[in-house]
Amino acid sequence: MDGTARAGKQGRTHGRGGTGRARRSKRAGPPAPSGTAIGCGDDGISSSSTARPGADDVSLQKPKEVEVVVDSVTITDNRNGQTIEIPIVDGGVSAEEWSKLLPGIWFYDPAFMATACAESSITFIDGDRGILEYRGYPIQQLTEQSTYLEVAYLLLYGELPTAEQLDGWVQEITYHTFIHESMRKRFLEGFHYDAHPMGILVSAIAALSTYYPDAKNIFDPDVRHKQIIRLIAKMPTLAAAAHRYSVGMPFVYPDNSHDFPSNFLSMVLKTPESRFEADPVLVKAMDALFILHADHEQNCSTAALRVVASSQVDPYSACAAACAALYGPLHGGANEAVIRMLTEIGCLENVPDFVRSVNEGHGRLQGFGHRVYKNYDPRAKIIRDIAYEVFEVTGKNPLLDIALRLEEVALADEYFTSRKLYPNVDFYSGLIYQAMGFPVEMFPVLFAVPRVAGWVAHWVEMLEHNTKIARPRQLYVGHRRRDYVPMSSR
Ligand code: ACO
Repeated sequence: MDGTARAGKQGRTHGRGGTGRARRSKRAGPPAPSGTAIGCGDDGISSSSTARPGADDVSLQKPKEVEVVVDSVTITDNRNGQTIEIPIVDGGVSAEEWSKLLPGIWFYDPAFMATACAESSITFIDGDRGILEYRGYPIQQLTEQSTYLEVAYLLLYGELPTAEQLDGWVQEITYHTFIHESMRKRFLEGFHYDAHPMGILVSAIAALSTYYPDAKNIFDPDVRHKQIIRLIAKMPTLAAAAHRYSVGMPFVYPDNSHDFPSNFLSMVLKTPESRFEADPVLVKAMDALFILHADHEQNCSTAALRVVASSQVDPYSACAAACAALYGPLHGGANEAVIRMLTEIGCLENVPDFVRSVNEGHGRLQGFGHRVYKNYDPRAKIIRDIAYEVFEVTGKNPLLDIALRLEEVALADEYFTSRKLYPNVDFYSGLIYQAMGFPVEMFPVLFAVPRVAGWVAHWVEMLEHNTKIARPRQLYVGHRRRDYVPMSSR
């Protein structure tokens, strides 16, 4: 699920189940008691790294096949003794092969705790060791040496751009930052004066599909490329517009003489001055935050994007769905929740009591815990360092000391250590955003601006790998057929 198991090459050389490596057989002897056993190797738990002597009767009868199966699991249907051996490839086993033995028996996995929904070569996470890489490049190196637009290119095309490629890419993005005037005047200004900027952004992304009907032609690579450029380029403009509108400030047009992060800061923060020049430290911090948020493999919003895009809808509608997923407090809304939590704690003395109350089941420690990271989120470490640089310019956010103390107390508490709950990306990012002058409502918007690069990279990857519609199964637990009860008899 989290991609932690990067399979050895052996699995790959044996190919997918469809190549005939998965073998179905009838076990000799009487059927086992009703039920299904999933076995890996002899003891039913460990996976085999060599041929498995005596693993099942059929393997013994077919020694040639045993020789070639390296990493595999054997599943036995105890109702009839049938077995199937499925290779473990890239850390996963094929559900298609499982279904050959067990049609109509579904994995029950509502939150995808143990289900890989895609093969992907975009982002690698090792949650136990706290590793994050985009296309194989460590996030630390990218944050220190790259720019967000360069990283967006890397996510999409798999390689770092040459100087010439980067120039062309930046040029294209820069000249697509404007939004249609009617979108600004008639659509954005139609929102209630105090609308949440994330609500505006979700709707605005969806509305883009009405301006670019050609986007429906998703199998044309040139059309696809154009929408990708538009999405990456227009996100900062829409985000800034949503902010300005929600605080009652006039819209600021993009200034194409700025670089990407400076242009965004200008559109957000510009007051009457003719040209807004953000402090270079803040520009660098903004760009680094964009890089850190650009992708995170199959997170909630990206999974939402893949499901919605699998219907072959246009990318604006799919990205709007992803953005809606990002709005939730368990996902992109957590950085907003962190600031509210720190403000509520109020002072250092209250930290131990707050941690104790979480420990006793009263709420959650926002910005802590992650489905994949069972170690310190590497992004949180980088963001903590960026915070100190930003505070040199903006002055220290008074909530920082509370956050540091909270981290210290929580990481010394058995409740958190036993559950492997560590600070995640949201724990420190809000402190920076707040120090830079963003209201808390803008925090999820700031997350969404760069995440669109990840969404479109996954969109392209998905279209190239698989065009089947995502359609999970359910375990039906309701009534079976019963006759309608007239109102008078209820
Ligand atoms: N505070 C207190 N307890 C927690 C926290 C937390 N932040 N996170 C998890 N736990 C506890 C749960 O209560 C549970 O305890 P139990 O086993 O006694 O029932 C255990 O740890 C496992 O938690 P789950 O909710 O099962 O973990 P899951 O992987 O489903 O959830 C999530 C991950 C949603 C991120 C969770 O840790 C959380 O709610 N964190 C706070 C919100 C947050 O920071 N979200 C941002 C995530 S990063 C991102 O989306 C960019």
